[in-house]
Amino acid sequence: MPCSAALYRAQSRIAVMYFKELELVNFRNYEKLKIRFHEKVNILLGENAQGKTNLLEALYIMSLGKSFRTSRDSDMIRFGTDFARIRTVSEKEGEDLTVEIGLIRRKKSLKIDGVKKKKISDLLENVYIVIFSPDDLRIVKDEPEKRRRFIDRELCQLSPVYYDDLVRYRKALNQRNVLLREERPDASLMDIWDEETAFYGSRIMVRRKAFSERLRVISRKIHGDLTEGREELDVFYEPDIPLAENPPEQRKQYLQVLREGREKDAARRTTLRGPHRDDLGIKTNGTDVRNYGSQGQQRTAALSLKLAELTLIEEETGEKPVLLLDDVLSELDRTRQRQLITSFGDIQIFITATELDSGIISRLSDYTVFQVERGSVRLSGGTRPGENH
Ligand SMILES: Nc1ncnc2c1ncn2[C@@H]1O[C@H](COP(=O)(O)OP(=O)(O)O)[C@@H](O)[C@H]1O
Ligand SMILES: [Mg+2]
Repeated sequence: MPCSAALYRAQSRIAVMYFKELELVNFRNYEKLKIRFHEKVNILLGENAQGKTNLLEALYIMSLGKSFRTSRDSDMIRFGTDFARIRTVSEKEGEDLTVEIGLIRRKKSLKIDGVKKKKISDLLENVYIVIFSPDDLRIVKDEPEKRRRFIDRELCQLSPVYYDDLVRYRKALNQRNVLLREERPDASLMDIWDEETAFYGSRIMVRRKAFSERLRVISRKIHGDLTEGREELDVFYEPDIPLAENPPEQRKQYLQVLREGREKDAARRTTLRGPHRDDLGIKTNGTDVRNYGSQGQQRTAALSLKLAELTLIEEETGEKPVLLLDDVLSELDRTRQRQLITSFGDIQIFITATELDSGIISRLSDYTVFQVERGSVRLSGGTRPGENH
């Protein structure tokens, strides 16, 4: 469980983690690769479809044990082969951490510092990552599912308990839905799945509510800065089931909704109500920016949410996350690019682009440029990794 921010601040300073090394075998279009990274800024340049995003994906998997762009692990195994391996060495406060993930068809294995782990969730709380891709720029205007995923990714990183609850909720929901599709669903079985769904579902709601409240405070401040005070951002939890006073009440309330909704659910053959229908409300100056914002407003709000994510992770965990920027700079105007670049501070970042604006490079003092071409990576400029530290 993450400690409270106050406790962390009292205990220690903020820790900075960074990736030192990445080794790939049969991962996506990489047959074999071993590279060292810069402690701060890594710029990955290359034409389309050369393997830039694949590299970020390999790093990202170290945070949640899964990809940000596919739910099928086997997609990441190089075509024509039957296993993939990803190994990273990262450093935190002078200590090395080696994580190795193996993918074999439907199986996934995990080793941390050479020790085999049974559960992928053992990975959580080691490496924190925030990824920002063109898709994320659309989280404000896209459908609620994208915003739920945004919340879930963050909460899963922050809390293995949430991760577990989410997995169990989805299982319970799925069982309930399977039962709903039967000709004559067994009522006592339905009771069991109602209970399970309400139990885990209400736990998820409680966490999402607390998360949204933190996000609200942090993103409001960031958005104020980004828009020089012109816009006030208001982010809030929009649960499908009305919020209750406390967790036990929440559970009762959801259970009641499920019981009362059985007939309707059976007619539609799916569970209509619950946190799988939640949303995150987003307003600027009192107007719903999801539906009525201009594209510029929606993108700036998305940027605020993403930057808030960085602060939130830091506050909750006492650690600075690694930031992955996938093709996102070219999608922002110059002002937003500059704001993004200057808000990095001392974290490690990875930037992919087809070409990089010299205006941006000139703002960075220390960085390494890699050229990515058909599944191979070579150093092509900046500081050599390791020289700077
Ligand atoms: N499992 C796989 N095995 C081999 N190649 C793959 C696999 N998955 C994707 N690729 C290849 O990776 C390339 C895309 O890499 P990507 O990192 O998305 O490119 P970009 O540099 O544009 O970010 C494509 O050429 C695609 O065919
Ligand atoms: Mg890409």
